[in-house]
Amino acid sequence: MGIKVVVYNMRPFDEAEWFSRYAKELDIELVTCPDAPDMQNVSLARGCLCADIITSPIDRELMAAFADCGIKYLVTRTIGYDHIDLAAAKEFGIRVGNAPYGPNGVADYTVMLILMSIRRMKQIMQRTLIQDYTLAGIQGRELKDLTVGVIGTGRIGRTVIGNLSGFGCRILAYDLYENEEVRKKAEYVALEEIWKQSDVITLHTPLTEDNFHLIDAKTIGKMKDGVILINTARGALIDSEALIGALESKKVGAAALDVVENEFGLYYYDHKNDILTNRELMLLRSFPNVTISHHMAFYTDNEVKTVIRDSLTGCRLFGEGKPNPWEVG
Ligand code: NAI
Repeated sequence: MGIKVVVYNMRPFDEAEWFSRYAKELDIELVTCPDAPDMQNVSLARGCLCADIITSPIDRELMAAFADCGIKYLVTRTIGYDHIDLAAAKEFGIRVGNAPYGPNGVADYTVMLILMSIRRMKQIMQRTLIQDYTLAGIQGRELKDLTVGVIGTGRIGRTVIGNLSGFGCRILAYDLYENEEVRKKAEYVALEEIWKQSDVITLHTPLTEDNFHLIDAKTIGKMKDGVILINTARGALIDSEALIGALESKKVGAAALDVVENEFGLYYYDHKNDILTNRELMLLRSFPNVTISHHMAFYTDNEVKTVIRDSLTGCRLFGEGKPNPWEVG
């Protein structure tokens, strides 16, 4: 049985080829749209069984509109699904799935951001661009001398710990659920000890109601002076205002942020001629010790292929009424 899937945010330069290859293999008809779903383009979903999206927020209104178009399965080509209103999905009878690709891309990127931060790579690159080959102010530190606190030891956090174990640093870990494999390379401690003892703190938890602004003025106050914060998880785990204040006071020595609060609508679009209103992002970008990237830790050849294959396979399994390992709600 052929099934029809509407794909939003379809990127022609890297996704089109994989979409057409896997759609053919799985006997799926595609309707594609380069933009995020909204109340204007949601009608493209009419006649489709499934909708395939990325990190665009799907609120109750949009969920109702998808249901009205006949969508029964909504799949996100991402690991995180905090952008989807799961309660609304349930209310309107839409099942939700994700596409969790391998953790290595994000884990490698995290280690790169840690190294960039402790070696002041942003300043080094800024200097070479203007032929300033001086050394003052860009002395780095060695990872073997530092304690790294890893919050969240799921697939990505665990892989980061594996990567870091080769550098000889002390590794502390915190998770709601401890893991035996992690214990071989890191020491589980209470969150308070992560704040107190870490020179570098890296975040690898999903964003939930419980950990919104996990890092705020209060928790920053408990950290070591000059602490380095790395976030490749979700922007709202860190209170941006509090981080800016702590960078200004030098309590925080550096930060590397692949994700920031309110990034939706900015990231993945060319805004060079626009006046932007995300003041926190503008300020953070301006600091010499803050490295920003636009939510792309995931972005490797392997990831693109995997999320397209698995998101469409989820649609196929759903269409056939078979067990679907990617269903999350
Ligand atoms: P996972 O589900 O394998 O692991 C998450 C871990 O966090 C679990 O062990 C869970 O017990 C723990 N956890 C949940 N709430 C917690 C809390 N309040 N305190 C402490 N631990 C808690 O997830 P995975 O695949 O490792 O992803 C981690 C994060 O990375 C997610 O936020 C995901 O959205 C983000 N991510 C970011 C990407 C990027 O490109 N920057 C790409 C892929 C994922």
